[in-house]
Amino acid sequence: MQCYKLSSLVSSMSDSDPLPSFSPDFLNLTPSVLLNTGARMPLLGLGTFQLRSPEDILQGVDSALSSGYRSFDTASVYRNETELGRALRELLPKHGLSREDIFITSKLGPKDQGTKAREGALRSLELLDVEYIDLYLIHWPGTQGLGVGDLRNSKNRAQSWAELEELHAQGRLRAIGVSNYTHGHLKELLEVCRVKPAVLQVEFHPCLAQGELRQLCREKGVCFQAYSSLGTGSLLQDPMVVQVAKGCGQSPAQVLLRWAVQQGVPILPKSSHPSRVAENGRVFDFVLNPEDMKRLGNMESGKKYCWDPSQVV
Ligand SMILES: NC(=O)c1ccc[n+]([C@@H]2O[C@H](COP(=O)([O-])OP(=O)(O)OC[C@H]3O[C@@H](n4cnc5c(N)ncnc54)[C@H](OP(=O)(O)O)[C@@H]3O)[C@@H](O)[C@H]2O)c1
Repeated sequence: MQCYKLSSLVSSMSDSDPLPSFSPDFLNLTPSVLLNTGARMPLLGLGTFQLRSPEDILQGVDSALSSGYRSFDTASVYRNETELGRALRELLPKHGLSREDIFITSKLGPKDQGTKAREGALRSLELLDVEYIDLYLIHWPGTQGLGVGDLRNSKNRAQSWAELEELHAQGRLRAIGVSNYTHGHLKELLEVCRVKPAVLQVEFHPCLAQGELRQLCREKGVCFQAYSSLGTGSLLQDPMVVQVAKGCGQSPAQVLLRWAVQQGVPILPKSSHPSRVAENGRVFDFVLNPEDMKRLGNMESGKKYCWDPSQVV
C-alpha cells in the first residue's frame, strides 16, 4: 500500500460530487466546494457537538484556526452558539481573519419546526451575534413532541422551509439546507421548494456510504456533506482502517477523513484535543491509492452510529 502526495491530489478527486474547486487559499490547505448559491464552503470544518464550556470552545476554535480550519458547525441543540460566537469574535483578529473569512453553519432545532422556525433561526443569529449565518439547516425531519408516524411532521418541515426561504431572501441566512433527511424527505422538499437546498448533511463513512442519497444530491445540485466521519470515534479501531493507516503512514482518523474529501465530500470532525484537531486537518497533503479507496468502500454495511431518520414520515 502506498500514499500519493499532493501533486496527484487534484487528478484523484472524484468527478461525481460537486467538485472541490481549489480557491487561492489552497496553499493554506483549505480547499472548498462551490454551493448552488454561488458561495464557497470549506471542505474541512470543525464539529462542535459536545463542546460546551467556553474554555473548550475557545481552545477548540483556536487550534482549528491555527490548523487552517475556516468552517464551524454548530446547532441550536448543541447549546454552544453563544460560546462559539464569542470565541470567534475574540480569536479572529488574533489569526488575522475577519467574519468574511470564515463559514458558520447552525441548525434549526426539532422543537422549533413549523410555526416557530423563524423565531428559532433569529435566535441562532442573536446567540451567535452575527449579521448573517453562512448555512442554516433543518436539523431533523421530525418535530419534537410528535411521534415519528405523525403526519404533522411533514407539514411542519414544509412550513419551516418556507420560513427559512424568507430569511434567506433577506440575506440573514446566506444558504439554507437540511440534515438527516432521507431520500424520501429530500424528494418531497425538492418538489415544493422555491429555494433549492444548498446542502444535505448526513452521517457518512465507509460503513455508510449513502449511495442513493448521494446520487440524488448529485442530480439535483445539492452538496452532500458528511458528519460522524469517524463513526463517532468507533471506526478508529476498525482493523481495515488501521491496516490502511499503517500502510500509508497516516493515522486512522486521517484515513477516514481523507476517504471522504477524496470523493469531494466536506467533513466536520470533532475533537476536544488540540493535537487531534490539528491531525484531523492534515488530510490535504496525501492521497489514498485506488486500492485502499476500494478496500475502505468494501466496508459498507449500512451501520449507523448516530441517528436513524428513516421512520419519520
Ligand atoms: N446534523 C447532525 O445531526 C449531526 C449529527 C452528528 C454530528 N454532527 C456534526 O458532525 C460533527 C462530528 O461528528 P461526531 O462528533 O458525531 O463524530 P466524529 O467526528 O465522527 O467523532 C468524534 C469522536 O472521535 C474522537 N476523535 C476525533 N478525532 C480523533 C483523532 N484524531 N484520534 C482519536 N480520536 C479522535 C473524538 O474524541 P475527543 O473529542 O476526545 O478527541 C470524539 O469522541 C459533530 O461535532 C457535529 O458538528 C451533526
